[in-house]
Amino acid sequence: MQLRPLGASGLLVTPVCLGTMTFGSPVSESDSIRLIHAALDLGINFIDTANVYEGYKRFLGSPGGVAEEIVGKALRDRRDKAILATKVGAPVGPGPQDRGLSAAHILREVDRSLKRLQVDTIDLYIIHWPDRIVPIETTMAALDVAMKQGKIRAFGASNHSAWQLCEMLWLAEKHGWPRVVSSQIPFSLLRREFQPDLAFCVKHSIGITPYQVLQGGLLTGKYRRGQPLPTDSRAAEKPDWIWKMDEPLYDRIEGLIGLASEAGIPPAQYSVAWALAQPAMTSMIIGAKRIEQIQDAVKAASVRIPPEHFSRIDAIAPPPWKQPDPVRG
Ligand SMILES: NC(=O)c1ccc[n+]([C@@H]2O[C@H](COP(=O)([O-])OP(=O)(O)OC[C@H]3O[C@@H](n4cnc5c(N)ncnc54)[C@H](OP(=O)(O)O)[C@@H]3O)[C@@H](O)[C@H]2O)c1
Repeated sequence: MQLRPLGASGLLVTPVCLGTMTFGSPVSESDSIRLIHAALDLGINFIDTANVYEGYKRFLGSPGGVAEEIVGKALRDRRDKAILATKVGAPVGPGPQDRGLSAAHILREVDRSLKRLQVDTIDLYIIHWPDRIVPIETTMAALDVAMKQGKIRAFGASNHSAWQLCEMLWLAEKHGWPRVVSSQIPFSLLRREFQPDLAFCVKHSIGITPYQVLQGGLLTGKYRRGQPLPTDSRAAEKPDWIWKMDEPLYDRIEGLIGLASEAGIPPAQYSVAWALAQPAMTSMIIGAKRIEQIQDAVKAASVRIPPEHFSRIDAIAPPPWKQPDPVRG
C-alpha cells in the first residue's frame, strides 16, 4: 500500500488503519494481538485506539483502558512498525475531571495512555469529541504542553466540524500552538453529514481518517433482507451498536450491493474504495474481528470504483444521509 501524508504532521500512514474499539470484547486479548500482528504483516502501519475502548463491555463512564493495554502488549517488540493514535475526552469515570478536554483531564490521561501503551510518545493524540464547556484555547494550551514534554507528536480532532477545525487553525497561528493535522469523522456510503467539510480539509492540509466506513458491517453484504442475522456478527451480538435494519435501509443496502456486484467488487471492498476516493481521505479506520476482514480492507486500497458509479451511488444513497446515532440520538 502506498503511504499517504497525514495532513501536515510529517507522518506517513497507510490508506488502511486498524481500529481497536472491539478489542477486549468480543475480540479476546489473544485474538486482538493476533489481529494487530497480522495487520502489520499485511503492511498496515497505522493503529487507532482510545483511552475509553474496552469493547462491548463499555458503558458511559466505565474506566476503559483495555484496548490500549492490548495494543501496548502487541507492540512491545515492534513499536517502530506502527503509527499510534489514541484519544482523550470521553468519560472514564463519574467525576467532573473524568471527562472532557480540560487541561487537568488531558494531562492526566496522556500519562495514563502512555503507561498502558508502554511507549514514550503517542504519534497522534486525538481530542475525541467537542467539549461544550471547556474553551478550545484551554485544550490547545494543554496539548502544547504535552507536545513540548515530548509526550505527543501531533494532535488531531474527532467529531469536530469544519468551523471548529478552522478555530483551531486560527488559534494555532495566533499563539504558536501545534496545528490540528487530522479529522476523524463518521463517513460511509450511508452516512455523509460531514461531506460539506471535506473541501475545507483539502484546502488546509487536514488529513481525514474516517470511521465506520463499513457502517458497522452493514455495507459488507452479510446482512440480507428476510434472512436470519449471521451468528458471530455485530448485529447478532451487540444490536445497540449497529443501525436498526428497516425496509428503507435494506432498500439502500441492496441498491449499493447491486452496484458492487455489477462492478465485480466484493461489497466491503467497494465501500472502502468509495470512501478512499473522496477528497482529503487519508486512511480508513477499519474494525475487524477476523484476519480475512483486514485482508478485505487492504485489497480495497487498490480497487477503483467505475467513474459512472459515483452518481448512481448518490441516487441510491444521496448526501447528506444520517440515521440517528444508536447511542446519542
Ligand atoms: N472517533 C470516534 O468517535 C469513533 C467512533 C466509532 C469508531 N471509531 C474507530 O473506528 C473503528 C471502526 O469502527 P467500527 O468497528 O464501529 O466500524 P466498521 O469498521 O464500519 O465495522 C467493523 C465491523 O464490521 C464487520 N466487518 C469488517 N470487515 C468485514 C468484512 N470484510 N466482511 C464482513 N464483516 C466485516 C466486523 O464486525 P462483525 O464481524 O462482528 O460483524 C467489524 O468489527 C473503531 O475500532 C475505532 O477505532 C471511532
